[in-house]
Amino acid sequence: MWVFGYGSLIWKVDFPYEEKRIGYIKGFSRRFWQGSTDHRGVPGKPGRVVTLVEDPEGCVWGVAYKLPTGKEQAVKRYLDYREKGGYRVITVTFHPRPPLTPPPSQTLLYIGSKDNPNYLGPAPLEEIANQIINATGPSGKNTEYLFELADAVRTILPEDSDTHLFSLETLVREILQNGQEHSCIQTG
Ligand code: SIN
Repeated sequence: MWVFGYGSLIWKVDFPYEEKRIGYIKGFSRRFWQGSTDHRGVPGKPGRVVTLVEDPEGCVWGVAYKLPTGKEQAVKRYLDYREKGGYRVITVTFHPRPPLTPPPSQTLLYIGSKDNPNYLGPAPLEEIANQIINATGPSGKNTEYLFELADAVRTILPEDSDTHLFSLETLVREILQNGQEHSCIQTG
């Protein structure tokens, strides 16, 4: 059993696996359109995390993990729990990074589709940026999720020129930087 990660499953690998492969899936784009009330936000003040949206021209790079033989169901149960905030499992075709020889194969992935209760959908980038800056949940700050994902994609998946992800990262850093420059704390 293989599971393809395109969001936190790329950089927060807190589950055992037997093997991992870098590669991509076609027909989707990565977007910060899923609300998070259990990891990077709270009910009433959700954070924003990534999901995949159908996009015939799209291609998303990520990491496919082979779950440990004999323990697939136990690890899958853990992942179902971790991803319970509105994600469901679908099967997709995974293409390993060339020049790897294995042919495309089927993997599972977690997707937050439009019909889940935490789905937030599209919004202006500025609005998404401010929501991320202001959200924190049991797993930590929403900005940490964004920065870790952008760093991981840049370093381990350089083929993925995800303009949505990288422009959001730039905007959030700019807003934080401006906030610091314009704040003045007087200590008496
Ligand atoms: C994933 O990483 O593949 C799913 C979305 C997330 O947990 O960030």
